[in-house]
Amino acid sequence: MKSLKDKVIWITGASSGIGEALVYELQHHGARLILSARRQELLEQVKGNCLIEHHNNISVLNLDLANPSSLKKKTEDAINQFGRVDILINNGGISQRDSAMNTTIEVDRRIMEVNYFGSISLSKHLMPHMLQNTSGHHVIISSAVGIISTPLRSAYSASKHALHGFYDAFRAEHHKDNIKVTMVCPGYIKTNISYNALLGDGSFQNKMDEGQANGISAGTCAQRIIKAIRKEKEEVYIGGAKEVFGIYTKRLFPSLFSKLITKMKVT
Ligand SMILES: NC(=O)c1ccc[n+]([C@@H]2O[C@H](COP(=O)([O-])OP(=O)(O)OC[C@H]3O[C@@H](n4cnc5c(N)ncnc54)[C@H](OP(=O)(O)O)[C@@H]3O)[C@@H](O)[C@H]2O)c1
Repeated sequence: MKSLKDKVIWITGASSGIGEALVYELQHHGARLILSARRQELLEQVKGNCLIEHHNNISVLNLDLANPSSLKKKTEDAINQFGRVDILINNGGISQRDSAMNTTIEVDRRIMEVNYFGSISLSKHLMPHMLQNTSGHHVIISSAVGIISTPLRSAYSASKHALHGFYDAFRAEHHKDNIKVTMVCPGYIKTNISYNALLGDGSFQNKMDEGQANGISAGTCAQRIIKAIRKEKEEVYIGGAKEVFGIYTKRLFPSLFSKLITKMKVT
């Protein structure tokens, strides 16, 4: 298994949920961490919650994934924090809780901008640096709905499916360059994602869904993501039996899945 000691790991969405939990776990692996999201004060708090002896190994870099013209400079800033970036964890994202017909095209585009274009932009901007280093690892926090699709998440599912399309091609293109890609597909994880999920008009749902409330903890999810990174897995499913069952049913029995999903509770 790959050691993460002294690796420089850039984590987006580090101000809460899965990204925050990744920071708390990764500090114990001797990695140097760059924490990114929009809310600088929360990123500073996350850093402050880490053990004091690790503070020199943690740096904060705020960014907005929905601001494409800023991301090249942000990537240069990230490289300058510790002189290199070995692993990018593309975790920042937003979800959706409304039907396709209720969702305005502006909201469809916003979800795509943050979840898809934001992530691939950081990967593309980092690649010249990684190619020069003859190594690099892109870790993408997709979702179970990057493989299946459920009602109330048309744009969100589309954005996560798009990530698989992009990164499966990217992995094949850069196999010869020692560039790794790990697609992580969580099911329900207990975070604020459903609070921050967008309704069709772009407002926040502001509610904890039962699925998330009963999901596995962000800490357990983070530990399993780190295991997948260290094993350089290409794809990993993390969640309860229901979501993993959904993924395999879709793969093996797609017609059965399309009947089941019309009856399943998805919030
Ligand atoms: N929780 C689940 O059940 C679940 C399941 C499958 C996949 N996921 C995926 O896991 C990832 C993390 O989600 P979470 O569950 O930890 O939810 P969360 O607690 O809501 O965290 C989302 C993170 O993304 C950041 N973010 C949102 N919009 C951003 C933007 N425009 N620019 C930069 N950062 C932005 C947020 O920080 P700021 O608001 O400070 O910018 C926050 O740190 C997401 O990609 C999500 O799709 C979650």
